[in-house]
Amino acid sequence: MKKKILLASLLAASMSLPAQVYLDPNANIEDRVEDAITRMTTHEKIQMLHAQSKFTSAGVPRLGIRQLNMADGPHGVREELEWNTWNVAKWTNDYIVAFPSLTCLASTWNTDLSSAYGHAVSEEFAFRGKDIMLGPGVNIQRTPMNGRAFEYMGEDPFLAGTIAVPYIKASQANGVACCLKHFVLNDQEIDRFAVNVNVSERALREIYLEPFRRAVDEAHVYTIMGSYNMWKGTHCCHHDELLNGILKKEWNWDGAVISDWGGTTNTLEAATGGLDIEMGTYTDGKTRESNFGYDQYYLGNPFEKLITEGKLPMSVLDEKVRRVLRTIFRTAMNPQKVIGSQCSEAHYEVCRQVGEEGIVLLKNRNNILPIDASKYNRILVVGENATRSLTKGGGSSELKSLRDISPLEALQEVYGEKVDTARGYYSGRAVYDHVDMLDPEKQAAYKKEALDKAKSADLIIYIGGMNKNTRQDCENGDRESYDLSYGQNELITELSKIQPNIVVVTFGGNPYNMPWIDKIAALTHCWYLGSEAGTALVNVLSGKVSPSGKLPVTFARNYDDYPYVKFGAEAYPGVNKQVYYKEDIFVGYRHFTSNKVQPLFPFGFGLSYTTFNYSKPSATLSDDVIAVEVEITNSGKTAGKEVVEIYAAAPKSKVVRPVRELKGFAKTRLLQSGETELIRINIPKKELAYFDEDSHSWSITPGTYTLHVGASADDIRGKATIKINE
Ligand code: BGC
Repeated sequence: MKKKILLASLLAASMSLPAQVYLDPNANIEDRVEDAITRMTTHEKIQMLHAQSKFTSAGVPRLGIRQLNMADGPHGVREELEWNTWNVAKWTNDYIVAFPSLTCLASTWNTDLSSAYGHAVSEEFAFRGKDIMLGPGVNIQRTPMNGRAFEYMGEDPFLAGTIAVPYIKASQANGVACCLKHFVLNDQEIDRFAVNVNVSERALREIYLEPFRRAVDEAHVYTIMGSYNMWKGTHCCHHDELLNGILKKEWNWDGAVISDWGGTTNTLEAATGGLDIEMGTYTDGKTRESNFGYDQYYLGNPFEKLITEGKLPMSVLDEKVRRVLRTIFRTAMNPQKVIGSQCSEAHYEVCRQVGEEGIVLLKNRNNILPIDASKYNRILVVGENATRSLTKGGGSSELKSLRDISPLEALQEVYGEKVDTARGYYSGRAVYDHVDMLDPEKQAAYKKEALDKAKSADLIIYIGGMNKNTRQDCENGDRESYDLSYGQNELITELSKIQPNIVVVTFGGNPYNMPWIDKIAALTHCWYLGSEAGTALVNVLSGKVSPSGKLPVTFARNYDDYPYVKFGAEAYPGVNKQVYYKEDIFVGYRHFTSNKVQPLFPFGFGLSYTTFNYSKPSATLSDDVIAVEVEITNSGKTAGKEVVEIYAAAPKSKVVRPVRELKGFAKTRLLQSGETELIRINIPKKELAYFDEDSHSWSITPGTYTLHVGASADDIRGKATIKINE
């Protein structure tokens, strides 16, 4: 009897409590946010806005609100680190699939593959219990010296943004937020924590902000990472004009800004400048374990003091908390979040496909590729990247992959006994060793071995390039030279003299100098290919797959041809931590085409084992959308895919415009010999606008626009015109 009364009174009490809307998975997210916020104390709100470990931020345990678990991407889930340090945690269950680098993804020009990539990689994040993937990156490849270019998607904002969108959508559909990085102007690693970027408003809008805008608009990305560098003298992690002004107000974005790790430098600016979650600050919490370390963050106790003393209104705090709660309900407490999986066959399959379609064939003298094995008795494989794990190194995007198939393993699998090897050069330990630390005698011995063996080989496959070592493709430092390191230029040149049948395969996120280009028979550039590197590469070399990748970045013949170089150190890497983007909007091919500088390999270029014919294109305008149509026919003997690129040329405008700019692209399906596909590409009229610095708004010049349809920025196959009225 007593028990019954107790139960009844408990029931009555719980019925009189307000409904816990925030815990209701079917309730609207905004209702969940508003309900949760009324239940939180000021201190609980504050705790949500900064790290509670190296890669998590707090929830509200008392209320059953989950914390946010973050991990570096963008090419796979980073290995677990210790709670409070950068040391690896030495877990044994955190081996993952290493996916190809984002430059490789951009090189596929395939939005379906980008979606498949986002889907697969986010399944791995979900399985590892992560809510936020730190990536993808869409900073513009302004210079080939940028140590982090491999994590980005090339030099063109339209390509980078368009490839990022399906990746983000697919990931977020799995309940894993993307954290798009690094917002914005983080285009070099030299002085990355302090450099102040001086850039025109037009270049900022048209080139550097544009891929971010697209991801906000079209993919509704949930979180964005503020960058270390400064603009107008303020760090971008808490830049009122960028974060509150452009991102949140003008673009109407409702997500959360996360600082780059250690990118927050000031409490008042962080509080009022649009930062929502502060991570990685160099306080006690970072350098040694402390119970209170994280409370010392700029958005910890010092911010709480400003609120409790009434120096800042509660609304400033609540605005941030809403954004963080929204992120939690979209991810950690999203009933649709998938369980995911790790190292599934489907993930390896995506990895291989992205690799195969991202590899770019740049030269193929007398169709030496695909390799006709019957012609060769002894194939000499030279170069360290034939066996080196390229998933290691590079900084925060480093991966601990379960299995990597190296190019050498895959070549041996196909060509068996014919394969002989020579290292050719060596580059020391991953990440740590710098070129000038390497032993010249050892280097000479490796070279001699390769040259000796070359004498009896009838085909050389050279596999080298960059390797994510320090001052190669590695975070927190740029390259020191446009040349390949470790004496590779001399080695390739000498090998080619001994055996002209030399196929060069390079890895790396950047263009580089090729003084030997006329001497070699073939060249493929592979970016980084991840776990399935060997399989993807050998499928292309052997002809199982016809290459269809195209460059997302211009390869200049000489370093001096890059647009900023003539402006001296002020334009890159800066003087006294001030860098001036003097080339303005003329980045990459916008410069090479407009100023008639002939590159070695233009933006958008890539060969195939077959050839394609383009029909005369047509363009029609209806409902503010231009539809361009062109028929692509496989005119060669091998099946293959073609990337069709559309560049718009504007009529004479108030401002100088590039001679053409990428405004659309599509990839055909696999076309058999003789097969034709009708490609239709829609270009919203608004894509033709330029940013008018006088009115601070986008403007479309009325007149006739030419739509160049081409196979690269320099290989225009046909054009159509369209008249745009006032
Ligand atoms: C990098 C970020 C990365 C973060 C966490 C920073 O140094 O710039 O891209 O997500 O570290 O590892």
